[in-house]
Amino acid sequence: MDGSQKPRNNEILPGERAELRNPSSSKQRFETLKNWETDKVQRDTLHLKACPVNVCDRAKCNGSVMNPSQMISDPRNESRSPEAIVQLATDFIDQYYESAKRFKSEAHLNRLHEVKQSIKGQGTFTLTEHELIFGAKTAWRNAPRCIGRIQWNKLQVFDCRHITSTAEMFEAICTHLKYATNKGNIRSCITFFPPRNEANGEFRVWNPQLIRYAGYRQLDGSVIGDPVNVEFTQICERLGWVGKGGRFDVLPLLLQANSKDPDMYEVPTNLVLEVDIKHPKFDWLEKMGLKWYAVPAVSNMLIDIGGIQFPACPFNGWFMGTEIGRDLCDTTRYNILEPLAKQMGLHTKNNSSLWKDKAVLELNISILHSFQSNNVTIMDHHAATESFMKHFSNELRLRGGCPGDWVWLVPPVSGSTTPIFHQEIFNYILNPTCYYQPDAWKLHTLKNRDQKVGKTKKIHFKELARSVLLASTMMTKAMAKRVKATIFYATETGKSLTYAKILREIFNHAFDAKIVAMDEYDIWLLEYESLVLVVTSTFGNGDPPENGETFAQALQDMGNGDNESSSKKFDSVNTVAPLQKRVSFHAKNTTANQDNTSEEQGILANVKFSVFGLGSRAYPNFCAFGHAIDTMLGDMKAERLLEIGEGDELSGQEDSFRHWAQNVFSAACDSFCLKEDVNIEIANASLSNTTYHPSNYRFKSVDIAAEENITGDLGKMHKKHLSSCRLIERINLQSAESKRSTILVKLDTNDSPLLDFEPGDHLGIYPCNQPELVDGLISKLEDAPAKDDVIQMETLKRKNTHLGIIENWEADVRLPPCSLRTALTRFLDITTPPTPQILSLLAECAQDENEKTKLKVLSEGSFAYEDWKFQSFPNFLEILEEFPSIKLSSSLLLSQLPFLQCRYYSISSSPNYHPGQIHCTVSVVSYTTKGGSGPVHHGVCSSYLNRIPAGEKISCFIRHASGFRLPKDPSTPCLLIGPGTGIAPFRSFWQQRIYETSSEAKVNGTMALLFGCRHPLHDHLYKKEVEEAKKLGVISHSYTAFSRSPHTPKTYVQHILENEISDFVFDSIHNRNGHFYVCGDVTMAADVNRAFKSVLVKNGMMKEDSDNYIRKMKSDNRYHEDIFGVTLRTSEVTDSVRKHVRKNSIKPL
Ligand SMILES: Cc1cc2nc3c(=O)[nH]c(=O)nc-3n(C[C@H](O)[C@H](O)[C@H](O)COP(=O)(O)OP(=O)(O)OC[C@H]3O[C@@H](n4cnc5c(N)ncnc54)[C@H](O)[C@@H]3O)c2cc1C
Ligand SMILES: NC(=O)c1ccc[n+]([C@@H]2O[C@H](COP(=O)([O-])OP(=O)(O)OC[C@H]3O[C@@H](n4cnc5c(N)ncnc54)[C@H](OP(=O)(O)O)[C@@H]3O)[C@@H](O)[C@H]2O)c1
Ligand SMILES: Cc1cc2nc3c(=O)[nH]c(=O)nc-3n(C[C@H](O)[C@H](O)[C@H](O)COP(=O)(O)O)c2cc1C
Repeated sequence: MDGSQKPRNNEILPGERAELRNPSSSKQRFETLKNWETDKVQRDTLHLKACPVNVCDRAKCNGSVMNPSQMISDPRNESRSPEAIVQLATDFIDQYYESAKRFKSEAHLNRLHEVKQSIKGQGTFTLTEHELIFGAKTAWRNAPRCIGRIQWNKLQVFDCRHITSTAEMFEAICTHLKYATNKGNIRSCITFFPPRNEANGEFRVWNPQLIRYAGYRQLDGSVIGDPVNVEFTQICERLGWVGKGGRFDVLPLLLQANSKDPDMYEVPTNLVLEVDIKHPKFDWLEKMGLKWYAVPAVSNMLIDIGGIQFPACPFNGWFMGTEIGRDLCDTTRYNILEPLAKQMGLHTKNNSSLWKDKAVLELNISILHSFQSNNVTIMDHHAATESFMKHFSNELRLRGGCPGDWVWLVPPVSGSTTPIFHQEIFNYILNPTCYYQPDAWKLHTLKNRDQKVGKTKKIHFKELARSVLLASTMMTKAMAKRVKATIFYATETGKSLTYAKILREIFNHAFDAKIVAMDEYDIWLLEYESLVLVVTSTFGNGDPPENGETFAQALQDMGNGDNESSSKKFDSVNTVAPLQKRVSFHAKNTTANQDNTSEEQGILANVKFSVFGLGSRAYPNFCAFGHAIDTMLGDMKAERLLEIGEGDELSGQEDSFRHWAQNVFSAACDSFCLKEDVNIEIANASLSNTTYHPSNYRFKSVDIAAEENITGDLGKMHKKHLSSCRLIERINLQSAESKRSTILVKLDTNDSPLLDFEPGDHLGIYPCNQPELVDGLISKLEDAPAKDDVIQMETLKRKNTHLGIIENWEADVRLPPCSLRTALTRFLDITTPPTPQILSLLAECAQDENEKTKLKVLSEGSFAYEDWKFQSFPNFLEILEEFPSIKLSSSLLLSQLPFLQCRYYSISSSPNYHPGQIHCTVSVVSYTTKGGSGPVHHGVCSSYLNRIPAGEKISCFIRHASGFRLPKDPSTPCLLIGPGTGIAPFRSFWQQRIYETSSEAKVNGTMALLFGCRHPLHDHLYKKEVEEAKKLGVISHSYTAFSRSPHTPKTYVQHILENEISDFVFDSIHNRNGHFYVCGDVTMAADVNRAFKSVLVKNGMMKEDSDNYIRKMKSDNRYHEDIFGVTLRTSEVTDSVRKHVRKNSIKPL
């Protein structure tokens, strides 16, 4: 057979098996497994990685031995050499990095070195939290006797390795039970207590399971309750526990910390979910008074992860019905089979009547029926075995094998009717491993005692027997905070970060919440997160903000299971998550109450998440990136706690955010069973509280030299590598007749390598605020320090210590040391209308009651705020003029104003044509507010660039736009569409082609420019340069749409595209595989998109296909957009969108 015929998935074709089993073909003997029902033969290679110790030995098979010695970890017989630990640790660390697809990476090698050093020095090492989670899941995956392993990746790990006392152990177990029980929708989880080592002493849970029923031995030798627990019950009694003597009394917990004597705790009754057993038809069965607990939580096993042993690590899944059937029927347990059969009227004398089978079957039916009708998770043995078979075949495909203990896996009833019965399975031990261990009381010698627990003699342990009944309310906040919440954000203008910080405030009331910028996160750690919250805006035209790009790409690769493609561009969101898909996806979305037994396993099966998207409905792809993240996480089977929240910049963004934040916090508390432990109202209040208070701030004078490097300071604040350019010259591109200005700004890069770029890239510029605004603002401050004195703001920090509250002044690191003038000129945004939160602070500072009331109304963020904001677009100085009674302190501005953000400009020059220079084409923004009746506002950055003298230093950086590039082959047709300043990047394109033509004598292809402006004599930008480029043959065609030319009808670029050059466009783009470029305003880009679709349809394409065609062009990198935002007719567009939003009552809430 040739290789191409070989089936995948380790499957062997008929005929091949004989060859493999042929003794003469030596090594591969017995490595195949046959399914006798389907005849499918598969090969197991994973066993080659098994521990050398095995369950069976040379002379005999130990397959049916309950506790083979190899599966028992007994500290009395074990002394591991450092070499043995190193070997186990190395193997485990290798597994971990292999799973993270970082095998042999620098991080892997460093970690190995660190681990080995630690073992050498201390005889042990500490697993990182992620390693612990990976180890726990893998131990479950490796457990040969467990039938429910398809869920192995969906395991919640509670890391309690830090705890030191039994009281903390008890709290942790309460949390575990609460989380696992989940009102009946059982979830798998594990709690790790400190590992075995000399420093820790031994931690053990003495109970075999967290919940089990007592067994009381009677004088006649009979037992009331569960006979399997007689010995443990007696120990509890000797420790002072007094059971009620019933059949189903939950045993107390006996917990041991630091090798000390155990303490005893009652399990709070509200944490024990039990199900009364009823039969769907036999009413009498209910009267037998049977019941069972819902959470099977094994607590006496030891888990070994890479040589680190955890003797106390209770874990749970959920029941398979037959397990409870055996607990009730086995003769060594409740032994109810015969009474049950008699009630059924069966003849119990004659085995061949199969009365046992009939009775056991009816009991199993009752168990399933009772659990199901009480909405408590349970599996029947057919579903369980089928899911195991699915897991088995997944594992052979993914891992080359799946260890299994056939004797345990075949259910105790109806064995041959289940598929496992017919499947050959190898049993072997892999590390990480679950081991049995000797009963804790057999290993422990009680301190200060002359007797050993477990001996039959009566022992009085009064002082030891601290039987504590603790209600679940005892679970402290510290306990709840064991669950980590990771808040990811991606932002362009800083709002998402502000919201992420507010979210952290509220989540810190119940979780251990931290904020992470998307681009600072290692995506392979995502599967180890428990709770993920995402706050992100959308930029471009449905694209991620810059600091979300790598995360999005990595997430996409992760979803594709593709680690090769990380170099690929992150496809536009339209490709990742087409709208239809998103909509239908939401329709089938499940919430916190999803079925936990679902077999659908994705890499993020254990992660709970919710997303909040910031955006603006002025853009066609509203919140598209937020939706893309939401879809990708959902597709990888992360559990959506709450539908995505959307915040529209044009209408109630902050309100929507608060609403979502409250709901997601509540859903998360619900999901992690923390609701009773958290005061939701107080937590919610943190959403509206700003923490500012003037007495918490003061200024300290600093040496003037501290303000030396503003570009460096800006770089640190914005986490960017900044450089500075000098202004060479500025040229107005509009004619003297025009009232507007568009300027060509030429900058000298001083050959900084940080400013290397390619045509299509952007320049990010950090501007200065207008000096008049800064001075005006300073003059209104109550307590302004001298405006050019360099100061450091300090904040009063309060810490709770055992000595009481300690106060300390600490430097406020938000701003570097600088003068007030510099802070307001370079670092802070004083022109964007303030958020409702800042208005609420201003309301506090207003002395006049009317002003206070008005500010309070505005600070509610409702329609009144929206109208005020979009009508007046007030800057901070104008607010102080509108509300003159505000007494404003400098610290409020310095601590609360958002950072002044950079502005982007599409670079208008080629680095080869103008080496050492960067040119920008800048439209100088100025507008009057209040529909033309208000004051004139000047755009911060464009007016800065229009103001500064030649030689001035400008703080800037390059933003690479890898999706906006000329095709490599210059003969590929290019259609460049850019009205107004949208022409900016195309100048770099034609300059680049001029350079290439002159230097490499390349043949030029089609390069058509479609430009639009108002008037042929006013704003026909670069007219002469375009004519020159045409003469050189670089631009093959140029078309201009005049919108305000006298004597000609108003024409836009899209009109020319659709009506005048339709055939040419179709031929260049479709027939000749050309590239389509659009640059400028987003509404224009949407109009051009529609016009292009119409061109496609005119030329014979179906309308439905035209959408897909453009989507495909985008993913093939042939349809390029460079979007500036809403720049054309700004107030008109935003007004109409807002009216539409209101009419349709989309927002605010
Ligand atoms: C990727 C990218 C590339 C860009 N390339 C270029 C380029 O090559 N050339 C270029 O000139 N610009 C370009 N821009 C736009 C540029 O970044 C700035 O947005 C622009 O220069 C305005 O900045 P500003 O600081 O002068 O104005 P700002 O102080 O930021 O003021 C602009 C804001 O004022 C408001 N506003 C504007 N007009 C009105 C109005 N009529 N009524 C009410 N409110 C109004 C709007 O909220 C607007 O966002 C680009 C933007 C992006 C994102
Ligand atoms: N962030 C910002 O707010 C920002 C950034 C940059 C520029 N601007 C503002 O934009 C204006 C100048 O910008 P500009 O030089 O790039 O362009 P512009 O000169 O205002 O417009 C270029 C051409 O595009 C036309 N046009 C308007 N709407 C269009 C649409 N939907 N589709 C196609 N064409 C359309 C215009 O026609 P008509 O005008 O005749 O309709 C004009 O002919 C200034 O007012 C400036 O303040 C604002
Ligand atoms: C150039 C530009 C492009 C934008 N593109 C989109 C978009 O495609 N979809 C959208 O919903 N919002 C878009 N927005 C709006 C932003 O998402 C919105 O302003 C958001 O509040 C910014 O949040 P941030 O400060 O966290 O980046 C765009 C804004 C700008 C300036």
